[in-house]
Amino acid sequence: MKIITQPDEIQSWTMQRRCAGERLALVPTMGFFHEGHLALMRWAREHADALLVSLFVNPTQFGPREDLKLYPRDPERDARLAEETGVDVLFMPEAEAMFPEGYATWVEAPSLCRGLCAVQRPTHFRGVATVVAKLFVLTNPALAVFGEKDWQQLAVIRRITRDLHLPVEIHGRPTVRESDGLAMSSRNVNLGPEERAQAPAIHRGLLYVARLVGEGEADATLLLAALGEIYAREIPLGHVEYMAVVDPDQLYPVEEVTGPVLVAVAVRFANARLIDNILISRK
Ligand code: PAF
Repeated sequence: MKIITQPDEIQSWTMQRRCAGERLALVPTMGFFHEGHLALMRWAREHADALLVSLFVNPTQFGPREDLKLYPRDPERDARLAEETGVDVLFMPEAEAMFPEGYATWVEAPSLCRGLCAVQRPTHFRGVATVVAKLFVLTNPALAVFGEKDWQQLAVIRRITRDLHLPVEIHGRPTVRESDGLAMSSRNVNLGPEERAQAPAIHRGLLYVARLVGEGEADATLLLAALGEIYAREIPLGHVEYMAVVDPDQLYPVEEVTGPVLVAVAVRFANARLIDNILISRK
């Protein structure tokens, strides 16, 4: 596995491979790999001739009071896991190389950033969209793979890719979960033992809402009230930042479930903010 840190070097490496007719896959990450990342890499490996993984804790997607410093890092372990998983190139740029002094260009999709995570993290998706667009320019992939846990992020990336005619296929892959249902996240290591014991209720609550919809409940207000009760009872150490029933593509709030909806939540613990979601199609 090759490790590249310089933007111009990754650009010429990928250009050569594309010119040789190879189909490149990109898995953008912020590192501290878990099984969720590795599943994305394995899937990407099967659908491309060469696999690139970027490992960059992007400062522009963290707000001034957010957890950039707390974000867990272990680049050596990540490099080892990436190599074992069949990654061809690990791109690990420094922040100054990606966002040098005087950097001034941003990519945004504001219509998808009015609700959900954007309420508490107003500049987050601008940072994500910008870094992902830059990674696409630098690595010129035929396909890029993202996890569905970050559903709003995936919707923003799909939209900027479409609107800017970026020549890359975007693939979303299912959330990988611990055996107790907790969505895998690099931030889970920042949970205390009691918080970790309560956190699986995030997913259990979402499954309960899916069951209610399956039984015929269509009123989003009632569904969210039921979810709120579960969270109040089972996650006393977590503060529910939002719970929402939204259209899965446009992300606007839905009052009555008549077709597919996404139920999305964010729960804040002392040192970790966790998100999760479930896609429900009305039978
Ligand atoms: O999902 C992530 O890890 C990040 O938001 C991403 C897509 C790598 C952009 O920094």
